[in-house]
Amino acid sequence: MARVIDRSLLTEAKKNKNDEFYTQYADIEAELQHYGNHFRDKVVYCNTDNPLVSNFVRYFIDNFESLGLKKLIATGYALDGESRGTRLIYTGAAGEKEAFEAGKVDHTEGEGDFRSGECITLLKEADIVVTNPPYSLLREFVSYMTSYEKDFLIIATVNAITYKDIFKLIQDGKIWLGVGLGRAISGFIVPEHYELYGTEARINERGERIVSTNNSLWLTTLDIEKRHRDIPLVNTYVGNEDKYPRYDNLDGINVDKTQNIPSDYYGLIGVPITFLHKHNPQQFDIIRFRKGDDGKDLRINGKSPYFRIVIRRVVDNPSEQPPSEDVALPNGQTLMVY
Ligand SMILES: C[S@@+](CC[C@H](N)C(=O)[O-])C[C@H]1O[C@@H](n2cnc3c(N)ncnc32)[C@H](O)[C@@H]1O
Repeated sequence: MARVIDRSLLTEAKKNKNDEFYTQYADIEAELQHYGNHFRDKVVYCNTDNPLVSNFVRYFIDNFESLGLKKLIATGYALDGESRGTRLIYTGAAGEKEAFEAGKVDHTEGEGDFRSGECITLLKEADIVVTNPPYSLLREFVSYMTSYEKDFLIIATVNAITYKDIFKLIQDGKIWLGVGLGRAISGFIVPEHYELYGTEARINERGERIVSTNNSLWLTTLDIEKRHRDIPLVNTYVGNEDKYPRYDNLDGINVDKTQNIPSDYYGLIGVPITFLHKHNPQQFDIIRFRKGDDGKDLRINGKSPYFRIVIRRVVDNPSEQPPSEDVALPNGQTLMVY
């Protein structure tokens, strides 16, 4: 008898396969070193983290005193076939570490879904959420964090910044990219059933199956030094106009690499999305995403380059005012208007 395969379920499973990518300790350590005193006296919640396996939980317990944490909360989603998730509340009190090392954790009442009532109660108590949430629920995850006005530091795919609602938060300066991006996040631990293929997969010295994806980044609401550093602008527009083609449907120029943004152009500039990793809001405003004045993708001579973000220099230093429009006078002279 022929089996009927529900294609939508297959597609869903494929789409969600990255939901079981676990974060490596070294990648957490590498990122967290940039967040200085943000954690002092704070309640941290890892809300998609089974405390028995999560390296986030392990990291925060190892560094509980040096970070000055007040409390660590972790909840993990119920494993297949189980009705209750895992839960850990850690305050650094005597005996807690030993109990954790011995694998003693509590259970949630329900499945440990980050959207459930009991997890929301824990979320309300938290100051900062730190985790790698399921990619298939990323939009919803971020909207929960923002609606409960929680600070967060999470891992997401690079694609996430092209999601309309997430881009809007970045554009409004409410969230931004952390330090680790692409290859700087060395890889994720994947479960046994995950098929390893290609050069991006390996088994590490602990026997863990690692997949290096090169398409992840950190997203955060926590201030970091990088966000205040200007992008060095070493190129000029004047004299190199041919290197900066203009768009068909926007009064602005296209730049293919962030490092090539000219220092002397004060109009609209289309840049690749990776610009966001270098963005200092005191240097550039983010004007819009991807579209020209006609509401269609930006085009140069009829062709669309990959997604572009439109930015413009912030000019608040009087010595750095852009030259204003020249007005041609009827007598042939030019009047500079300041
Ligand atoms: C990308 S993995 C990362 C796991 C862990 N946070 C880490 O970084 O190692 C996402 C985790 O979220 C869990 N998950 C999926 N749906 C969830 C939900 N609705 N609520 C909470 N956790 C969920 C998955 O089972 C998976 O363990």
